[in-house]
Amino acid sequence: MKLFLDTANLEEIRKANDWGILDGVTTNPSHVSKENIPFISLVKQICEMMGDRPVSAEVVATDAEGIIKEARKLTKVAKNIVVKVPVIREGIKAVSVLSREGIKTNVTLNFSAVQALFAAKAGATYISPFIGRLDFAGQDGMALVREIRTIYDHYGFKTQIITAAVRHPQHVLQAALAGSHVTTSRLNILEQCFEHPMTDAGLKMFMDDWNSIPEKLRKF
Ligand code: E4P
Repeated sequence: MKLFLDTANLEEIRKANDWGILDGVTTNPSHVSKENIPFISLVKQICEMMGDRPVSAEVVATDAEGIIKEARKLTKVAKNIVVKVPVIREGIKAVSVLSREGIKTNVTLNFSAVQALFAAKAGATYISPFIGRLDFAGQDGMALVREIRTIYDHYGFKTQIITAAVRHPQHVLQAALAGSHVTTSRLNILEQCFEHPMTDAGLKMFMDDWNSIPEKLRKF
């Protein structure tokens, strides 16, 4: 399963990128609003940091024509741009056009499996079900990921599922078990995925035992 970072913060991207396991970045207008950097320049910098790995940048138009215009502009920023489009009627209409032009899309704000079916039929590269927000509304977010996976497998759709709005490491685990192609997580969630108290205790024990060996016997 690919791991994307959900942020527009350059420092956070640098940090996660250093781990060597980051496969991409997703941004959204809320993330961008926190950075105080001109949008196109910010997207360009993120794309440069990620090399050839995908970076999702979201349109803000809500009519198909406007979405298509913004998408074409975004694709000029860098080769690794993926245009994020909301799963509304006009968004799906735009994605159908963009996918025929070979422009990669990430259909966002997905809360139902039929929306995800429509996105796949329009040729979306990615679909982003927001599972944490569904959990918060009293539904089972991960059930949506499983439904989408089943539908895509039935019909051989190539659209990749990005499990989004994840809230804790269990979501990352459950997404992997459900066959999600990608999870996109905030930095604090990815940080938490490293943690286990037994890892720390075990490492401390190894270090203590190592340090009990006379120095002349413990040269590498
Ligand atoms: C995904 O593409 C979205 O940017 C993101 O996961 C939204 O999640 P949030 O509910 O954490 O804002």
